Parts: sequence; C-alpha cells; structure tokens
Amino acid sequence: MTDSDYLLENRKTEAAQRFIALSALFDPVTLRQFDACGMAAGWRCWEVGAGGPALVRRIAERVGPAGHVLATDIDDSWTKEAASLNVEVRTHDVAGDCPPGELFDLVHARLVLVHVPERERALRNMIRALKPGGWLVIEDADPALQPLSCIDAYGPEQELANRIRQGFRTLLSSRGADLSFGRKLPRMFRAAGMVDVAAEAYFPIALPECAPLEVATIKMIRSDLLGNGIATECEIEQHLENVRTGVLDLSQPPMISVRGRKLP
Ligand SMILES: C[S@@+](CC[C@H](N)C(=O)[O-])C[C@H]1O[C@@H](n2cnc3c(N)ncnc32)[C@H](O)[C@@H]1O
Repeated sequence: MTDSDYLLENRKTEAAQRFIALSALFDPVTLRQFDACGMAAGWRCWEVGAGGPALVRRIAERVGPAGHVLATDIDDSWTKEAASLNVEVRTHDVAGDCPPGELFDLVHARLVLVHVPERERALRNMIRALKPGGWLVIEDADPALQPLSCIDAYGPEQELANRIRQGFRTLLSSRGADLSFGRKLPRMFRAAGMVDVAAEAYFPIALPECAPLEVATIKMIRSDLLGNGIATECEIEQHLENVRTGVLDLSQPPMISVRGRKLP
C-alpha cells in the first residue's frame, strides 16, 4: 500500500484530532495490555504505526530513562512530536521495509494491520524484531462483528449514521482493509509459534470519547463520501450536527487486543 492509497492519510489536517480521539478512547485499554505483559522500567519497545504522540509518550514514561521507544509510521508527521531522549521516531513501512536492526522487549501495533494488505508479512517482521521471550501486542478492530454506528437504530438520525458508517467500511475494504481481521489474530499468533497467547475485546457502545472520533473521521473522509455517492454535503452536515447535539449513541466496532510471547 502506498501512502496515497491510505484513506485516513496523516497529512490531512483532521488527522491530529483523530489521533487525540483514538488515544482518549483506546489508550487505557492498551495500557492494561502492557500491564498484563509486565512492562517495566528499562524495557525497549517498538510502537508500530504510532500515528499521534500521546501513546508513545505514555510508553516512554513507563520505560523511563533507562528504557527506549522506537516509534515508526509510514507518515511520521504527527509522531515526531513525541521525539525525546528515550524516544526515536522513524519513517518506516512495517510490511515493506526490513524490521529495525535492534531487538525489543515489546512490539505493539494498534489499528494498523487492519489497513495493511501485506499484514502477514508485517506480523512476521514484528516477531523478528522481538527478543526471545519478548511480547507482541496487536490490537485491531473487527468491524464485521459489529458494523453499526448506532446499534439502536430507532430513527432517521441513527439510520443516516449507519449508512455513512457502512459507506466508510466499503471505502476501507476497497483499499485493502480486512474488516474481519481482529478475530483472526489469536490464530495468527499461534501459527507464528507465539506462546502465552491471550485475547480480549473492547466494545464502546455510547462513550463520550466516540463523538470527537466520529467528527474527525467524517471530516477526513468527507471528499471520499461525496465522491463515491455515499452521502450528500447536506447529509454530512446533518450527521455532524446530530453528533454535536448528542442525539446519537455512537458505537465503535470491537477492538480485539491480542498478546503473546516469542518462545524464550
Ligand atoms: C488508524 S491509525 C492508528 C494510529 C495509532 N496506532 C493509534 O491507535 O492511535 C493507523 C496508523 O497506521 C499507519 N500505517 C498505515 N500503514 C502502515 C504501514 N504499512 N507501516 C507503518 N504504519 C502504517 C498510518 O499512517 C496511521 O498513522
């Protein structure tokens, strides 16, 4: 996948808002995964497809000055803000480029592989970069498990939200996203020889953090929604207004978090 094929390109001005919203919604879930792996001071971590700086900064705090974080992305324009003494930021394609030369205690990617058509190669690259006994944590959505924006579609506002969400999914799929990827991760981990594999799902149904994420996403894909006849300008404005006025209980698809260790 080239950078320009990626629907949610980081260069778009709304990307920063989207990264803030993703962090607000998902960082607590991700940090619990890191706790389950025993993340500690001094660890060396690789954050793949980092996007914004917030989670990278949190990892850097946890591993402290004796630790190290490598944060990579195909477009690191926003990740760069996290660069510091113990954080290195690099432009890197997890599927197309060789893994970094160094080995890590933990490699993490959240909401990245679902967008990468060569996801099996990306997974192999991440496992290659682990120390023996090191942890891999992959978190990816499974929109096919729950495709709706509003689960309780009781009126025209909810139906419009669901139609726009369905159009967004179609666009993602046409660019190579696997909309039922999350459920496949435990099997992929085991097939790759990982041990202590464990998986769980986080499924926001009506959390306040879903609204800013919806607004940023719709603004980013507005021209694609219009160009593909998914919604009119007027419908997009109406939907954004519905989000702002709080008449929608906005949901997200389950995010499946999987962790496993490379054989020591
Ligand atoms: C949905 S965002 C998620 C960002 C961040 N991981 C989070 O959860 O907040 C997906 C990120 O993956 C990056 N990405 C997409 N394809 C990639 C690839 N092949 N290699 C590295 N990063 C990639 C995008 O540039 C974007 O920053």
